[in-house]
Amino acid sequence: MKISKAEFTRRRKKLMGMMDRHSIAIIPGAREVTRSRDTEYAFRQDSDLFYLTGFEEPDAVLVLVPGRRQGQVVLFCRERDPEMELWNGYRLGPEGAVAYLGVDDAFPIEDLDEILPGLIEGTQRIYYSMGHDDVFDQRVMGWVNQIRRLVRTGAAPPADFTDLAFLLHEQRLIKSAAEVRIMRKAGEISAAAHIRAMQECQPGRYEYHLEASIQHTFAEHGARFPAYNSIVGSGPNACVLHYTENAARMRAGDLVLIDAGCEYQGYAADITRTFPVSGQFSPEQRAIYDLVLEAQRAAIAKVRPGNTWNQPHDATVRVITRGLIKLGLLKGKERDLIKSEAYRDFYMHRAGHWLGLDVHDVGDYRIEGRWRQLEPGMVLTIEPGIYIATDNTRVAKRWRGIGIRIEDDVVVTEDGCDVLTDDVPKRAEDIEALMSEAS
Ligand code: GLY
Ligand code: MN
Ligand code: MN
Repeated sequence: MKISKAEFTRRRKKLMGMMDRHSIAIIPGAREVTRSRDTEYAFRQDSDLFYLTGFEEPDAVLVLVPGRRQGQVVLFCRERDPEMELWNGYRLGPEGAVAYLGVDDAFPIEDLDEILPGLIEGTQRIYYSMGHDDVFDQRVMGWVNQIRRLVRTGAAPPADFTDLAFLLHEQRLIKSAAEVRIMRKAGEISAAAHIRAMQECQPGRYEYHLEASIQHTFAEHGARFPAYNSIVGSGPNACVLHYTENAARMRAGDLVLIDAGCEYQGYAADITRTFPVSGQFSPEQRAIYDLVLEAQRAAIAKVRPGNTWNQPHDATVRVITRGLIKLGLLKGKERDLIKSEAYRDFYMHRAGHWLGLDVHDVGDYRIEGRWRQLEPGMVLTIEPGIYIATDNTRVAKRWRGIGIRIEDDVVVTEDGCDVLTDDVPKRAEDIEALMSEAS
């Protein structure tokens, strides 16, 4: 299951169709990053470059020049080099890029400084995402200045810079059928990993045992890397939103929160489940759990075309505020507590985010200051949570240290939505049943 060459071509065509006449887009790929001395982190391509090419090598720059007669799609990439390839792996090379990626023209990356000013010259607008890579920003300015210096000889420098994100990220926000299929698969693999972690959880084991198990499931399904660092937080660690030490011993009576999703064919899944280490919720844990689940269900019910981005979030706020009042954790009138955002002591993040090639995917949440409407093909997470700090002396002791989040990935359809990650149980009874069968 892969994005086809034809789809990559369609994506480039669509983007070029939205660009001005006499313009150029410059999209640099990611570089390798040192992890220690002479070893690198596993290479991850820049999502924009990947979206438009599927190319997974470092040191690449994609250039789109709509209307250019000798070829509109130009890729700069590493040349083939038998010795380097022997040590570091296969390279496509410029000839391979033309043959396999379907670009019109390709050159060695070393020739960028020589060739790019000529491609820029005569265009009136450069589409480029400034501010993400200082070194590359300087190079782009350098090429433009080089043309400016030649104005008296008749050279025409471009007049405008436009952030490529305005066009490209709107395009990335709406997923194609092939993208949804891949994201569903990413969701299924991640769901299998969460189920197995629930089955393998035992008091006395360490958080990293579950992280290892999750990693194993991802990798054995062809998803070598997680889409983000897995969070396995037991007991009060669940209240640390970005806890990734995953080092503590898990104790009977505690909950464990796992936020983990794989990256499959470039696309992220993002799932959170929270379950009891020993397989049985305490009454307090169960009360908070059921409330978070009710909030999540209420939010998912609001995901449909025409509703705004914020409606699912508002639904979680209402359910959580009302529930916390009922449990005695908040005191006052629902309306006042929502207005004063009193719930933020317990629920301090938003209900979700766009999901795609990036786990916090691109795309605006507001259009001209107003929350945007949901449209078919958008993929988002729904992930309310309640976290009761260990030092929250305003609540009875028995509640403190409970942290619960439930997160699923949802695609907007023509008439509602479809949950891509619902293979993992989330009703408390179902989790307890799964865990008791496993022990
Ligand atoms: N795992 C990151 C997030 O849930 O946003
Ligand atoms: Mn998320
Ligand atoms: Mn998450």
